[in-house]
Order: sequence, then C-alpha cells, then structure tokens
Amino acid sequence: MPTLASMAIPEEGPVPFEDALVVIGTYLVSSPQQREEEHADLVATLPSALEANGVKKLRLYQGFWIRDIHVPAAIALQRQFEPRPDDVIVASLPKCGTTWLNALTFATMARKAYPPASADHPLRRLNPHQCLPFLEGLFKGGREAELELLPSPRLMNTHMPLPMVPSAVPGCRVVYVCRDPKDMAVSAWHFLRRLQPDLAFAVVFESVCDGAVAFGPVWDHVLSYWRASTAMPDKVLFLRYEELLRDPAKNVRKLARFIGMPFSAAEDEAGTVDSIVQLCSFGHLKGLDANKTGHLDPLLPVPRDALFRNGASGDWVNHMMPEMASHLDKIVADKMRGTGLTFQ
Ligand code: A3P
Repeated sequence: MPTLASMAIPEEGPVPFEDALVVIGTYLVSSPQQREEEHADLVATLPSALEANGVKKLRLYQGFWIRDIHVPAAIALQRQFEPRPDDVIVASLPKCGTTWLNALTFATMARKAYPPASADHPLRRLNPHQCLPFLEGLFKGGREAELELLPSPRLMNTHMPLPMVPSAVPGCRVVYVCRDPKDMAVSAWHFLRRLQPDLAFAVVFESVCDGAVAFGPVWDHVLSYWRASTAMPDKVLFLRYEELLRDPAKNVRKLARFIGMPFSAAEDEAGTVDSIVQLCSFGHLKGLDANKTGHLDPLLPVPRDALFRNGASGDWVNHMMPEMASHLDKIVADKMRGTGLTFQ
C-alpha cells in the first residue's frame, strides 16, 4: 500500500481527499458487488419504499430509510469504522447545509496549511464535497482502506444517522447541521427536479411527512445527533443552518473551539474568521468554476451547481400552502416533544 510520504501536500490533516486520492489511488478491500452480495439476503427481507423521484429504492434498516445501495455500507460502517480521537465528522441530512458545513469545517481545520485568503486554497479549485471523504460512499464501494492512509486529523462527511456510525460518539468529534424541515423539503424538491423535471412538490412533501426520505425519518435523524449533543457536548456540536446564516462568524468561532483549534489573537488581528466566512460564502462558492461545472458523481448526473440554489431560509413560503406548513410543523413538533429541541 502506498504511503502519503511522497505527497506534495501537508503531512498533517485534513488534506483535500481529492488530492490524497491522486497518491492513494482506489484501494478496494472488497468489490462493491461483493459487499452488496454479502448482505443481499438481509436487504431483501427489509421493508421497502420508493424515494420521491420514484427511481431509487429505500429500505427500512433499524428504523431508518436507507437507499438499498447504502444498506451494505451502513452494516460495514457499524462493524468496521474505527475513528481516531482527533477525527472530525460532518454529519447532516441531505439539503440541510452539508456543502457549506463541509467547506467551513475544512477551511477552519486546515487553515494552518491552507490560509483561507490564499489564492491557491483548495476550496477555490475543488467542490467542497471533493475535500472530504464521504463515509458511506467509501464503505459502499469496499474502499474504506483509503481512510487509513489519510494523515491525522481526518475530516470526513456522512449523511448516515448516528446509529449507523455508533463508534463515532464518543470515539471522535461530530459536527451536525440541521435545518427547518420545510426548507429542507423545498431544497430537496429543486434538487430532485434536476433529474426529473416533472416531479411535483406535493410528492416530495408527502415523503418528508411520511418519513420515507433517504436517511430519514427527518426527526429521528436529527434526534439521534441532538441527544448525543446534549449527553456529550464536547463530542457532538449541534448547529442550525438558519443560525449559520444569521451569524456565520460566531458559528465558525464555535466550530473552531469545538475542534480544539480556537482562533488566536494574531488570527483575530489578521481577520482569519472573516476570511473563512468569505471563502465559504454562498456567493463566492457559487461563482467558482469548480462549483459551476461538472457533476456530483460520475454515477449521479446532477450538475454541481445544483448544490448552490438559493442559500436562504424561509423559501418554503413560496412553495407550500399555510395548511401544508402547519401540517409538517405539527408532525415535527409531536416527534420533538420532550426532547428540548424545537424548530419554531
Ligand atoms: P437551497 O436549495 O434552499 O438553496 P446540501 O449541501 O446539504 O445539499 O444543502 C444544500 C442547500 O444549502 C441548498 O439550499 C444550497 O443553496 C445551500 N447552500 C449551499 N452552499 C451554501 C453556502 N455557502 N451558504 C449558504 N447556503 C448554502
């Protein structure tokens, strides 16, 4: 197996995963087919539903709706993921601010090697998702050995609910971002429409209300991290997309303290926090070639620009009737009752 010693990138992490891959190459522990076949009998017995776009199949695995292709990854993650104490994992449901939090966390953690104002910062040439390994993507493809080759501290990304990565807490640190489920539903609809233009909003809305969305139900996903954050605040940082919008600098400082890298007086003097916020701002990222061109994944023909649509909160008012909004609000409030978490 190659080492990173010869890499023209820092020996300390996090390093942009895309750069590391140039050296590591693709390292298969088992082929994606082997991993799929290994668990095919179990997957076939699980309750199923179609995702809102009617294409992808979801399976109900241990109370969560996981895409059938990701169930073997969930099982492998549960059994084999070994966090290092200085790892950081960015966790979220899709369409809740993952791309932004990936960028902010990478820029904050890697700021010594990659000063945020520098012209050759990785986030100026790579999409934020290219900077972090996506756990279920690697475990689905039998590629988890690539994680072992990354220098510490590692920064990784997952959409899995916490029960699918049980060793993450308290094994390392997790930064979670949640978002008003109404705006998440709107964002998901616009995203899925890039693949299926005639998809009705009502179909996506119903799937959110029913709980049958990838990695959902939404409330169980959010609560899995919320409960861990209240029990172990030094291990799980629970953020909100709306709060990030309201005061990004305050949240970047919070993030830096959480990962054990608070900003120094010299960095305050140099305006490092503002540089990070600016580097990762919606307007800046949206305008970069790395985010305007190409596709998310060779297997997922969604253009990268679909990740940068509106970048605001409250767009739900333009998409749903007040009765729909209160219906979803009530479902979520009922599920959250007694947990100390609210979305109102
Ligand atoms: P909208 O569709 O409401 O605009 P994810 O990254 O989890 O898929 O979430 C996508 C949502 O985050 C989209 O919401 C997108 O516009 C928004 N987003 C992406 N980058 C952002 C940034 N730098 N600042 C604020 N919002 C951002």
